[in-house]
Amino acid sequence: MDEAFRRGVLSYTWGMIESGRSSESGASLTVPTPPKGIAGIPHPIPYQGSKRQLARLIVDLFPLETDRLIEPFAGSAAVSIAAARLRRARRFLLSDIHAPLIELWRRIVRSPQDMAARYREIWRGQLGKERTFYDTVRTRFNKYHRPEDFLYLLARCVKAAIRYNSNGEFNNSPDNRRKGAHPDTMERHIRGASELLSRRTTFHIGDYREVLPRARASDVVYMDPPYQGVCRTHNHRYVRPVSFDAFVDALSELNARGVPFIVSYDGRTGSKRFGRPLPSTLGLLHTEVAAGRSTQATLLGRSHDTYESLYLSPMLLERNGGKVPGDASCKSKETWLFPEAV
Ligand SMILES: C[S@@+](CC[C@H](N)C(=O)[O-])C[C@H]1O[C@@H](n2cnc3c(N)ncnc32)[C@H](O)[C@@H]1O
Repeated sequence: MDEAFRRGVLSYTWGMIESGRSSESGASLTVPTPPKGIAGIPHPIPYQGSKRQLARLIVDLFPLETDRLIEPFAGSAAVSIAAARLRRARRFLLSDIHAPLIELWRRIVRSPQDMAARYREIWRGQLGKERTFYDTVRTRFNKYHRPEDFLYLLARCVKAAIRYNSNGEFNNSPDNRRKGAHPDTMERHIRGASELLSRRTTFHIGDYREVLPRARASDVVYMDPPYQGVCRTHNHRYVRPVSFDAFVDALSELNARGVPFIVSYDGRTGSKRFGRPLPSTLGLLHTEVAAGRSTQATLLGRSHDTYESLYLSPMLLERNGGKVPGDASCKSKETWLFPEAV
């Protein structure tokens, strides 16, 4: 995108946000073509809602010198893995309220061989009795919360979706067409992720607001909270609704401290918008990125594309030289920064 045009787009979108029309118009800045994922990148944790597809586009927005990437809603950590692979941050902080997930990450990063071996053993144990075996592992996981059981359940459950009942028990069913990733494949992903993240990653279990005070101006915080509609389901130790107002306050505080951040917050399918847009008082640049065809719309015989909202903070834009999604000038150079682990 050439400089004059980019400036034009930015002032236009900020103008729209300022005048409060961004939520009605739907678009501020729209990137119409779904981005490509990064080939060969390790992803040991299957995860519904993973940002694998958008990870490169998000990482390309980072300032040149990013000391640490903080992911307070880490999930499968797709953005951290991409940033590590593309050498766009020196260090990482993975945090999530979901304790078994962070325990699993800790073990993958610090003890990859052991985790791969445990997964292999469970995976082999299922052969010939896949259906009942899944139930046994699920019951065991709900009792002991072992990371290896959790990994097996995610590899086998329907749509790799983490679902709990109101008692906080994992209750998703198995996808009976699949046995879960083959242990050789899983081992490759586990080792790959560990190589990228070991000795430079710290972990935290808890609410997103607990890690934000650690963020500095030299870091980038990437936040991908659960879809606003999803928060209403249950409220137990692993799922607490992220209040809109509290989230806005937290972002305002990051702005006040000059911390650069990027937020994925809902989006739209066709003209149907999900969730409340973030308020103009935060001064964020709202962009939309095509994320492909919506499965739901396809099932209904409609051809609606899905767009994910990405909000960029003023300090991020200041530190990255005004780069916006889809800007050709901000493609990562893979050999470019931080050649060694720290
Ligand atoms: C949409 S997912 C993140 C997906 C992630 N970006 C990825 O690429 O896999 C949202 C995550 O937020 C976590 N979460 C939900 N409420 C939270 C809270 N109050 N504080 C921290 N994490 C929370 C969930 O456990 C879930 O892993």
